[in-house]
Amino acid sequence: MTQTLNLTINGTARALALDDPRVTLLDVLRERIGLTGTKKGCDRGQCGACTVLIDGRRINACLALALSHDGASITTVEGLAQGEDLHPVQAAFIRHDGFQCGYCTPGQIMSAVALIAEGEAGLDPERVREGMSGNLCRCAAYAGITEAVLDATRVMTTREDAA
Ligand code: FES
Ligand code: FES
Repeated sequence: MTQTLNLTINGTARALALDDPRVTLLDVLRERIGLTGTKKGCDRGQCGACTVLIDGRRINACLALALSHDGASITTVEGLAQGEDLHPVQAAFIRHDGFQCGYCTPGQIMSAVALIAEGEAGLDPERVREGMSGNLCRCAAYAGITEAVLDATRVMTTREDAA
């Protein structure tokens, strides 16, 4: 039976007809909508490559049944930049060489955006590493990733203070 899935993706409302109720959010994003910035690594909830935000909270899209999130607001890596202006986390990853092959990077960036919003890790490198531990990097770019998250936290906190 075909079911309709309504999602707001990066600010745009989408209605999709799904024949298979078992389709994951990751496959909807990549294969139905063409947002291939979100990567499929393990497809088992173990690597974090598929991290997106659902209503502001990070999840592994490969484990999320799309229909169970009907009505949700999804943010993918494509939704972070404002025109030509990169999100502070994206800019910090570039400044600190937070990637090598780049395959894990969209998931790392989405996880970092949520971690900073959670406000739990602050500027403590150990807590940043713990908060990012669900995102694996086969290139072991962890030192740059941690520095990038700390730097973006500083930038975003300063902006909030100035506002
Ligand atoms: S692809 Fe989803 S956690 Fe690895
Ligand atoms: S940069 Fe290659 S997997 Fe992380």
